[in-house]
This record gives sequence, structure tokens and C-alpha cells, in this order.
Amino acid sequence: MTDEPTAETAPRHVETRAILGGRRGDGTSLAPVLWPTSTFASETVDDARRMATSVGADRFYSRYGNPTVAGFEDLIADLEGAEAARAFASGMGAVSAVVLGLCSAGDHIVAQRQLYAATQLLFQAVCPRFGIDVTFVDGTEPGAFAAAVRPGKTTLVFAETPANPKLDVIDLDEVGAVAGPVTVVDATFGTPVLQQPLRHGVDLVLHSATKGIAGHNDATLGVVAGSRELIDWLWGFAVLHGASASPYDALNATRGIRTLPVRMRQQCDSALALATFLEGRGDVVDVRYPGLASHPQHELAMRQMSAGGSLVTFDLAGGLDAGRRFVEAVEVARLATSLGGPETLVTHPASTTHVNLLPDELAANGIGPGTIRLSVGLEHADDLAADLARALDAATP
Ligand SMILES: Cc1ncc(COP(=O)(O)O)c(C=O)c1O
Repeated sequence: MTDEPTAETAPRHVETRAILGGRRGDGTSLAPVLWPTSTFASETVDDARRMATSVGADRFYSRYGNPTVAGFEDLIADLEGAEAARAFASGMGAVSAVVLGLCSAGDHIVAQRQLYAATQLLFQAVCPRFGIDVTFVDGTEPGAFAAAVRPGKTTLVFAETPANPKLDVIDLDEVGAVAGPVTVVDATFGTPVLQQPLRHGVDLVLHSATKGIAGHNDATLGVVAGSRELIDWLWGFAVLHGASASPYDALNATRGIRTLPVRMRQQCDSALALATFLEGRGDVVDVRYPGLASHPQHELAMRQMSAGGSLVTFDLAGGLDAGRRFVEAVEVARLATSLGGPETLVTHPASTTHVNLLPDELAANGIGPGTIRLSVGLEHADDLAADLARALDAATP
């Protein structure tokens, strides 16, 4: 006898699960069904009481749960290999619910230094107000998370990979192996298609589903997935926190996920082609793409991700002025703050998202005056390469 999977027992591929999943409350409708209602009628007071006192009721009051949102949560849980998931009104809704829902005054958090700026601000500015101590570590340094844990004090370890904006890749096995605290990975840049942190022993995975998951720049949404026990605990905090997901956004995200695997494949292919093209340009330095052999954690990225992702970060040799000229000169790509959608977007952190940081703070985040973050969309890669070449020529006369 062998336990080798057969055609009948082999797990279904992500492409198939993205189509079959997330159909709670949809009846015979193939498309996800929108439940815009904020509240639900009950037949009896006992029914209402049962829902008011049970975790995860999806037909009581939409801040507690909603069938359209529940369909999205089921789908994410399935893609992540999780027991359960909870959606939030934004990625930051998810991040702040995890941090404030799991930590109390006197607790200690170990967080990666390379983080999305708003998450970093939450740790730097909000946590101290609630008496929560945060230690920042270089997430790329082997053993850094475990070494910073204070036994009995550290309740949360927070990582992000690939990290925003310089695409540092963090070892998921290492985060998953940290014993004691709840381990959390913001996996927004990879989406559940490229990596599944829970399979590496991580406790919670979270996403800004605003990005690749919804994938069309038409939803603002967050999601956390993990064990039933942790998600139920978070649910109890989430109904008080109030950052519950909108059914409209959940509907758009469920529809978006139907094409997520095929979109990711195309976007990763184009991103690799554009990263290779950028490496060949004399006016571009430090091209960062996890799929390129030159990336400092390329081997790790290829071990834990199925492709390099849809983002490329690079520096213009011409610095601040070149960066500003470049993002204004692109025509196929657009200057906008977000990522993961069908439109290719460029951002110049030093003059937009991170404009308030001092030069040494920018440097600590790996952001130079000429750093550009490119989110590769679904346009043809040749048209994008031509657009970037023209804008680069215009930026560095
Ligand atoms: C890695 C990462 N996490 C979280 C967020 C926050 O997500 P949202 O804008 O949906 O609140 C972002 C937003 O850009 C992000 O890039």
C-alpha cells in the first residue's frame, strides 16, 4: 500500500480552488451574491439571542458578519490552508485588530524594521500609548526575531514579506519556528498564490486585500487567516473595533480572486522581464526583484515563493529630480499609490508616501532620493518596457 496521492485524493490546485470556493449563501448563483443589508430579521427572540451570543454569526448584524463577507473569508481560508479567516475594512484594519486585539499594556512585540509605513507608525506611535513595548529587528538577519523575544513578555512577532518597498524577503520557516508568541506575517505582496506562511508554522497571515487579492483597484479590504481559536478571539475584538468589511468590497474581492492565479502568473512574468530590462540600463541602480539572481535573498525567495511577485523597486542614478521627472513622464504606467491591480503604477516614495521622513529615516527604510516602486499590471510587457525606457530618457537628460 502506498499513501501517494491519487487523482482522486490529490489536493486541488489553487486555480481550481479560486473558482470553486467562497460560495456561502450564494445558492445557485454562479456569481457572488451581494447582501448589502446592515441587519437581518429574526423569526424569534431565541434566534436573535443565539446569534447575538455566538461567535461569527453572519445573519445578525453586518458589523458581526455578513454572508457576502463570509464567502470571501471562506475563500481566503481555503487558499491559505487556514481553519478560518476574518475580513476587515482595510489592510490597516486587519493589522490594528491583530495588534490591539492580541496585545495588552505591559506586553512586548518583536517587529521587523522593514515594514509598510503605516504599520511601522502603528508600532512606533500607537503601541507606546497603550503601554506596549516594540523592538524592531532586521528581518533579513538570521535569528533576529527569536533573539529579540523576551520569554513571558513577548506576545507577538510581526513580519512582512516581501517587504514594502524594497522587497526584502523574510525566512518564513524562521518566523514559524519562533516559540511562545503569536507569529504574524503580512503577506500582501505575495498574495496566497505565491506563498502560504501558515504552511511554514506561522500562526496568522494577513493581507491588504485592497491589493493583488481584489486586484482591480475597486475594493478597500483586509483579511486575517489562521486557526479557528485565534480567529474567534480576533472576532470578539473586531466587533468592538468596528473595522468590519463592506459587503461591496468583499464581493469585488471574491470576483477578483477567481482570476488571481492567472493574473499573478502574468504579472510575475512581466515583472521579471521588466526587472531584467531595468538591470541593463546604465541610468538605473540597485534593481530589486526577488526573482532576479541579483536579489540578496533570491534563493530564499525561490524556496518559499512560486514566483518573484508583481513589484520591482529600483533607484535612479539621477536622484530626487530624476525620480520626480520619471514618475511624471510615464504614459502607460500611472503615478498612483497602490499595487497589485491591472494598471501598472509607479510611486516615488521620497516625494510622496515617505515625504515627511528625514533623510536618515528614509535611509533606514532603504529608500533613497531616487527610489521608484513599480507595481506591474496586466498591460503588455513590451509596451511597459517602451514606456519605462522613454520615461527614463526624459528623466535623465
Ligand atoms: C504590505 C502592506 N500591508 C498593509 C497595507 C495597508 O493596507 P490598506 O491600504 O488596505 O489599509 C499596505 C498598503 O499599501 C501594504 O502595502
